[in-house]
Amino acid sequence: MQAVIGADVVLGQVVERPMSEQAIRVKQQAETVDIVWPDGTQTSLPHLWLRDNCDCNDCRVEQTTEKKFMVTSVTVDIKPASTEYLDDTLRIVWPDGHATCYNGCDLHAFANEDTEWRSEWGAGYVPVGFDFQDFLNDDGAAASAIQEFVKSGAMVLKNAPQEPNTLEQLAPRLGPIREVLFERIHNVEVYADGYNVAHTSLPLPPHNDFASYSWPPSVQALHMLVNEVPGGESVVVDGWRVLSELRAARPDLFDVLCSTPVPFRMFDRDNETYTLEPLVRCDVDGHITGLRFSNQLMQAINPNRPGVAKFYRAYHELCKRVTDPSVKVSFRLGAGEILVVASHRVLHGRNAFQASGRRHLQDAYFEFDNVRNHLVLLRRKGLVQ
Ligand SMILES: [Fe+2]
Ligand SMILES: [Zn+2]
Repeated sequence: MQAVIGADVVLGQVVERPMSEQAIRVKQQAETVDIVWPDGTQTSLPHLWLRDNCDCNDCRVEQTTEKKFMVTSVTVDIKPASTEYLDDTLRIVWPDGHATCYNGCDLHAFANEDTEWRSEWGAGYVPVGFDFQDFLNDDGAAASAIQEFVKSGAMVLKNAPQEPNTLEQLAPRLGPIREVLFERIHNVEVYADGYNVAHTSLPLPPHNDFASYSWPPSVQALHMLVNEVPGGESVVVDGWRVLSELRAARPDLFDVLCSTPVPFRMFDRDNETYTLEPLVRCDVDGHITGLRFSNQLMQAINPNRPGVAKFYRAYHELCKRVTDPSVKVSFRLGAGEILVVASHRVLHGRNAFQASGRRHLQDAYFEFDNVRNHLVLLRRKGLVQ
């Protein structure tokens, strides 16, 4: 049976398809075409959305599939002349005779959009380890590692060469190195003239690097080349878990952290970086997408700005939670191991160490969007579910 809603059909009329055709109900409303799926979910499609996303060759650049159609070529209140759903296809004819078809499965997928690709660290979590050579050379191993990394925000690559600049080899898997001022591959050793607390043997509280950039690097790889000192265990904290717990307990303080711009500065003799940004970033749906936390790089907020006292209440609560032993995951990063963190989410630090031997670490930065791109490519090869 064919379910047809033509221009002559009364608005709001429901046409029910038989169970043999999965009982999909299509309803033309004043401004939308609504589809009720057999599982009870509904997709409401505004008329201009339906016209704008037409993927016929007239509306697309045929060679690239990019959109060529511009909404201003039709009126803002355009309505279908007719709508039908048949053979898993929604077919719309517009008043000028242009026809647009949508695959039902593609439309249904919008109802089930998966936003929960991340999972918070549970009790006893430690970053999962993967073999460095397998990660580079075996697509299946890389797919498992990247999937785990995207989900949890951390992984450790083991058995890597203890050679300087080994991090350059990760580019085919993680995307190009994100360069910043200072060194492309950054050396962390004890230097008498170091410009950062990392260049001493002092403890490093959990932080992310380059809080002084308006878009700090979103992935950081830390490669241990030599580790001959007592102490200096690596520390990682799931910043998003800390924030979601803080949000549940004190939503008022969470909002302050999202809305108070804080200055950060990182500098040495030759370089000067500075930004003014809130500590917490959420997307438009309220999901936490970024924590900026570096006690060492934070500068004095202008005390004349309204709400500084309230901000300090929120900052005190955040610092208490970030440094709480219950969220601290610590382990010794051995020579030839690379810790990779999603650095808008995961904070890193280290315990103090005795500078009685050598400890040499190298850092390089990448971008999370590029890592996720590799996950998509590996999924297309059928290596990721
Ligand atoms: Fe750091
Ligand atoms: Zn078209």
